[in-house]
Amino acid sequence: MSPREEGSESEAQGEIGKASATAPANIAFIKYWGALDLNRALPENPSISMTLTSCLTHTTVEYTRGEAEEDEVFLVSPNGELSPAPSPFAGPVLRHLNEIRQALGERAGLGVEEGTEGGGHFRVATRNTFPSAAGMASSASGFSALAVAAVRALGLELSIEELSRLARRSGSGSAARSVMGGYVEWPRGNGENESHAFTLAEAEHWDLRDVVAVVETAPKEVSSREGHRRARTSPYYPRRQELLAGRLEAVRRAIADRDFDHLGPVIEEEAVDLHLIAMSSDPPIFYWGPATVAVLAELRRLRRQGLAAWATMDAGANVHVICQPHDEAALAAHLQALPGVVGVIRDRVGHGPETDVPHLF
Ligand code: DP6
Repeated sequence: MSPREEGSESEAQGEIGKASATAPANIAFIKYWGALDLNRALPENPSISMTLTSCLTHTTVEYTRGEAEEDEVFLVSPNGELSPAPSPFAGPVLRHLNEIRQALGERAGLGVEEGTEGGGHFRVATRNTFPSAAGMASSASGFSALAVAAVRALGLELSIEELSRLARRSGSGSAARSVMGGYVEWPRGNGENESHAFTLAEAEHWDLRDVVAVVETAPKEVSSREGHRRARTSPYYPRRQELLAGRLEAVRRAIADRDFDHLGPVIEEEAVDLHLIAMSSDPPIFYWGPATVAVLAELRRLRRQGLAAWATMDAGANVHVICQPHDEAALAAHLQALPGVVGVIRDRVGHGPETDVPHLF
């Protein structure tokens, strides 16, 4: 942590700090599903994910010290124009900016007591650079990019653990995993200080690919937040908790050993289990569509022919198919040809956020 020097020019009223960052989405092999504390996104179970490369959020944050004004959030169009973000999008971003101000105001020398409204204001512009098939807009990349850029705009440097906790406090818990690259574990939330992610292995350790069969581009009907809330109402939830310890260990070992034959079946079983919990929650949540089931059937067929590819699905209908580099092109072609698949995104394990990127305004 390197707080601004006291009395330095940087604390002058009206002084502006500006920073930009990109952060990638991640795909969970073991899912966060169910919270000990939903508001603080403290998870009931550990999760493990792979940070991606192509599915990114690019965000610029400007912080102007001095007079408290309303924070502002803009979306950036593909041709670079800024327009005010609609309130369903802006609301959670504004809430997270307040969290950031509360958490870091004192250290950043904003001249306000922790727990009070901060002086100065944020301007944020953001865009997703997800490949055009879309349908997998992720708040993990968004809140991770926001945390990374905001911290730098305030003139601070945080440890990776602190950044992870800050991103998590957005309420989109999976953002805690997107502030770092490679293979990432986020432990159960035992307390505020312990709930941050850590790196299991760097991206270079194992080149895995994620071929996303996009079957649905509309936003999901039931949010992950609501899914977490309902999870405990499933009669199978306690059984899932019992099974998770073994699954987590199997995934950790498969990653350490780069053992795809052991990784694949566990991640597909785990994803089906999440959806089983969702479908048996009260009231039930059905994220899958007919094309989800068709993709799963196609993968069983391809595996019988010797193509090693295994599915995982987040809280939605799209299917992330994990494979090794030599199978990626053939797999993508098979998935693209399936009825109901509207697009295929080819992504891979990546290095996490970048800060040497252009400003959006
Ligand atoms: C199914 O609460 O992080 O993706 O706010 O929608 O990003 P969002 O969800 P969050 O829950 C993630 C649920 C999940 C599994 C996972 O990524 O671990």
